[in-house]
Amino acid sequence: MNSQELMHLLQHLHYPSFEKNLKELHLLGNVHVNNSHASIELLTSNDDSFTMLKTFLERELHHRFDTLEIHAKTPKTVHYGHTAQPNNRAPYANNIIAVTSGKGGVGKSTVSVNLAISLAKKGYRVGLLDADVYGPNIPRLTNTDTERIGWNDNNQIVPSENFGIKIMSVALTTPKNDTPLVWRSSVAVSALIQFLEDVAWGTLDFLVIDMPPGTGDIQLTMAQELPITAAVLITTPQTVATDDVSRAIMMFKDIGVSMAGIIENMSYFIAPDTKIRYDIFGNGGGERMAQKYNIPFLGSIPLDMEIRAASDSGEPPSALGSSEQKRYYDALVERMEEHISFNV
Ligand SMILES: Nc1ncnc2c1ncn2[C@@H]1O[C@H](COP(=O)(O)OP(=O)(O)OP(=O)(O)O)[C@@H](O)[C@H]1O
Ligand SMILES: [Mg+2]
Repeated sequence: MNSQELMHLLQHLHYPSFEKNLKELHLLGNVHVNNSHASIELLTSNDDSFTMLKTFLERELHHRFDTLEIHAKTPKTVHYGHTAQPNNRAPYANNIIAVTSGKGGVGKSTVSVNLAISLAKKGYRVGLLDADVYGPNIPRLTNTDTERIGWNDNNQIVPSENFGIKIMSVALTTPKNDTPLVWRSSVAVSALIQFLEDVAWGTLDFLVIDMPPGTGDIQLTMAQELPITAAVLITTPQTVATDDVSRAIMMFKDIGVSMAGIIENMSYFIAPDTKIRYDIFGNGGGERMAQKYNIPFLGSIPLDMEIRAASDSGEPPSALGSSEQKRYYDALVERMEEHISFNV
C-alpha cells in the first residue's frame, strides 16, 4: 500500500459512533508510507480524542504494516466545523442546556422535561426543544401529544405550552404523533434549525434541549449552531463505566462543548411499599466517573416506578409528583446553579 492508498482508506473510515468519516471530520494530517512503515498525523484537538483515535486506527491497521507511527499535529486546534466559535441560532435564549448521553434509554427525555419544569417553577422562562427527531418523546411526557402546531401572524410556529414551559417537537408537526419519520439526517438537521429560528419562543432564560442518544450529526450541528452554556450527561449505574459514556464526554470536549455535569439516573431503587433504598447496582459510579473526568456531579435520581408510570401518562413528577419526587429534580437545578455560571 502506498501513501495515497492509505490516505484513501483513512478518509473513508468512520470514527466510532460518528456518522461522518475521518475526512469529513477534518481529522487527518499528513500520511506517509515507506515500505512497511506508515506514519499518520492526526488533527485531533485534545489528548483524549487523540488517544482514542490512535487506539482505533492501530486496531484497524496493525495487520497491514510492520511499524505504524501515529502522532498528533501540534499546536492543537479545533477542526470540527465552527464549534470553537459557534453560530447563535437562538439569540433569544440566555442559556442553553443540552441534555445528552452516550447511550439510549438512560432517561435523557425524562430528565429534560423535569429539569425544564423545575427551572420554570423557579420563575425562569423556559423552552424545551425535542432534538430527538427520530424518537421524539417530549409531547407524550408533557401531555401535549394530541396538540398540533399552528402559526402566528408573524409566520412563526407557535410552540405548545404546558406546565409553564414552551415545547417544540417534530412529533407536533406530523399528522399523528407516532407517524414515523424517514428523513435523511440533513433534513432532520434543517428541521431542527427551523425549530430554533422560526418558533415563537419569545425571550427565554433557558432553552433545554433533549438530545438524541449518541454522538452523531445532530449533536455536531447543535454544537456548531448554538453556544451551549451547559451540556449535561445522563448515565445510569449500568452504563457508568462503558465506553459509550467516555466517548460522549470526549467527543463533546473535542467539538468544543465541555460537559457541565453528570447526572446519574435510575441510581438506586426505593421500594414503593417499605420505602427502603436498595443500591442494586452498587453506588457511587456516577460520582467516580465525574471525578475521573473532572466534571461536576449534579446528583442522582432513583429508579422509581412512579416516575416511569407518571412520565408515560404525561404527568411529569417535577410538576405533579410527590414532594420527594419534586425534590429530586429541584435539587438538580440547585446543584446546576451552584456549579455552572448561568447568564440570568
Ligand atoms: N428515574 C426513573 N425511574 C424509573 N423509570 C425511569 C426513570 N427515568 C426514566 N425512566 C423510564 O425509562 C425509560 C427511558 O427514559 P427516557 O425516554 O427518558 O430515556 P432517553 O435517554 O431519553 O431514551 P432515548 O435514548 O430513547 O431517547 C422511560 O420509560 C422512562 O419513563
Ligand atoms: Mg429520549
